[in-house]
Amino acid sequence: MYEHDLLIIGAGLAGLRGAIEGIQEGLDVAFMTKVHPVRSHSNAAQGGINAALASRGDDWEDHALATVKGSDYLADQSAVETMCREAGDAILELEHMGVIFSRNEEGKLAVRRFGGQRVARTFFVGAITGQALLHVMYEQIIKHEAQTYEEWFATSLIMEDGVCRGVVAMDMKTGELHTVRAKAVIMASGGAGRACEPTAQAAICTGDGQALAYRAGSPLMDMEMIQYHPTTLPTNGVLMSEAARGEGGYLLNSNGDRFMEKYAPEYMELASRDVVSRAEQTEINEGRGGDGCVLLDLRHLGRDFINERLGYLQEVATDFMSIDLAEQPAKIRPGMHYNMGGIKADVNGRTEIPGLFAAGEAACVSIHGANRLGANSLLEAVLFGRRAAAGAVKFIREEAERSVGDESVKESEGKRLQEILDRPKGPRAAAVRRELALEMDQNMAVFRDQAGMESAAAKVAEVKKKLPGVSTDNKGRIFNIDLLSVLQLENMVDCAEAIVAGGLMRTESRGAHNRTDLTARDDKNWLKHTLAYQTEGAPRMDTSPVDITRFEPVERVY
Ligand code: FUM
Repeated sequence: MYEHDLLIIGAGLAGLRGAIEGIQEGLDVAFMTKVHPVRSHSNAAQGGINAALASRGDDWEDHALATVKGSDYLADQSAVETMCREAGDAILELEHMGVIFSRNEEGKLAVRRFGGQRVARTFFVGAITGQALLHVMYEQIIKHEAQTYEEWFATSLIMEDGVCRGVVAMDMKTGELHTVRAKAVIMASGGAGRACEPTAQAAICTGDGQALAYRAGSPLMDMEMIQYHPTTLPTNGVLMSEAARGEGGYLLNSNGDRFMEKYAPEYMELASRDVVSRAEQTEINEGRGGDGCVLLDLRHLGRDFINERLGYLQEVATDFMSIDLAEQPAKIRPGMHYNMGGIKADVNGRTEIPGLFAAGEAACVSIHGANRLGANSLLEAVLFGRRAAAGAVKFIREEAERSVGDESVKESEGKRLQEILDRPKGPRAAAVRRELALEMDQNMAVFRDQAGMESAAAKVAEVKKKLPGVSTDNKGRIFNIDLLSVLQLENMVDCAEAIVAGGLMRTESRGAHNRTDLTARDDKNWLKHTLAYQTEGAPRMDTSPVDITRFEPVERVY
C-alpha cells in the first residue's frame, strides 16, 4: 500500500504541470503513467500554444471571443475568460522554465496565425511545440524529484462514502495490483481518440480516466463533440499540423481550386477546424477530391521556409508519403483528432466527485464547447493542470479526511483481472476495438445523422455484449500488454457509449456535431451541455446550462 497527499494520473503536460504546483505547495505528490512521461500524447500538438500578450498589443478579450465563437457558443464563457486572461503568464512561465520558443528577426518571440482567429497569437517551437514543452516540463519534474509510478495502470478509483481516496493500479512490470491512497486525485490522462479509427491520437489515448470517473459516478460532458482535424494523412491518421496553413499553406481540390473561398471567404484555410473539415468533406463527397482526399499545398512557401518553420512536416511527408513538400502537395483528409468532451470539471479542476479533480483533454471544463481552436489545447493543459492542482491543494488543506484504509477494491479488482486471464479463447481486444472504431469513424464523424448514430449505438451495444468473452493469449502477469488491451478496450467502450448517447440526444447541429438531418443550430433548446451518467443499462442523460457572460450567440461566419 502506498500513500500520498496528491496523486496525478497521467504525465502529459497537464499532469506534469499539476505535479509541479503540488510540490511547490509543499505536498507529497506522485504521478502515475502507463508510459514514460515524454511519450505522452502532449507531444502531438505540433503547431503552437495560444496567448494574447498585452506587451505585444494583443487583447485577451479578443482571444476569448475567438474561442467562444470557435466553440459555436457551447463553451462556458467564464471558464474561457479565465483561460484567456491567464494565458500570457503561462507562456512567459514556460519561457522562463526553458522552452526555446521560435523567435522573429527582431529576436522576439515569434507568432503564427491559427484557425478561427483574426490575429497571429500562436507561440511555437517550429512544428514540435508539444514535444518541446513536454521535455522542458519533464526536466522540471526531475528537478523537483516527484515520486513516479511509471508503467503503472490505474484500474479503478477507490471510493469511500462517495469520496475519491486513491486508485487501485497495476504495476505493469510485475502485473501486481496495489492500493495507492491519496487525499486527492487528478485525472490528467488524455483523450479517448482510439475509440475511432483512424485517429491522430496515440495508441495510449484510450479514455482511461474518463471511464474510471464515469464508473465512479461522475458525468461525462459533451462527449458527442469530437474534433476532426482538417489535415491528417488518409492511411494512418497522422497529423499534418495546422501550422502548415498558419504559415500560408493552401487547400486545393482536384480542379486545383482554393475551395475555402466558397465556404469561408474571409478566413479561407484559417476558418475554425469544424468549418474547414466540413468544407473538405463536402468537396470529397461531391467528387472534387481524389482518392477520398484533398490537397495541402506548401510549394509556394519555398524549401528554405518549409525546412525552417515546418521541418517536422517535411519529415512526416518523407517518412509516410515519400514526397517532398517543396515539390508536391500532400494528400490529406479530415481525421479524428481531439475530444472536446470529458469529465465534467470546473476551472479549479473540481469534478462532481469530492476528492477527484480533472484537467487537460480528459476533462471538460468547458472551454472548447463544440469545437476547439487549434493551439488552445497546450494552453488548456498547462493552465488547467496548474489550476486543478491548486484546487486539489485547497481541498486537501480544507476538506480532505484520512482514508479508512479499506482494501476491498484491490481484492475485487484482483478477481476481475484474474477472470479476464482465465477466459477461454474468445475475440481479441485489437479486433473488437477496430470493429468499434471503424463504426465510430463512419457514423460519428464530420457529418452525422439519426440513422448513422443509431447504427453506432447498435455497434456499441454489440461490442459491449462481446466484452465478457474478450480473451488474452498471454496468461502471465509480467508486462501483459494483452491484458492491458482488454482493460483499455473496456474504457474505450464506455467512452463510445457516452459519445453516441450525447450525439443522439443533441437534436441540432452545433460545431463538430453536424447533423445532415437537423442542419440548424437550436439555441432555444440546445444552448446546453449534455451529461452522461453510467447505469447498468444505457447511460442516464441529463443537461446543464451553458454559462454566457459577455458574448451573446450570433451566427458564426468566417
Ligand atoms: O495542428 C496542430 O498543430 C495541432 C494543434 C492543436 O490541436 O492544438
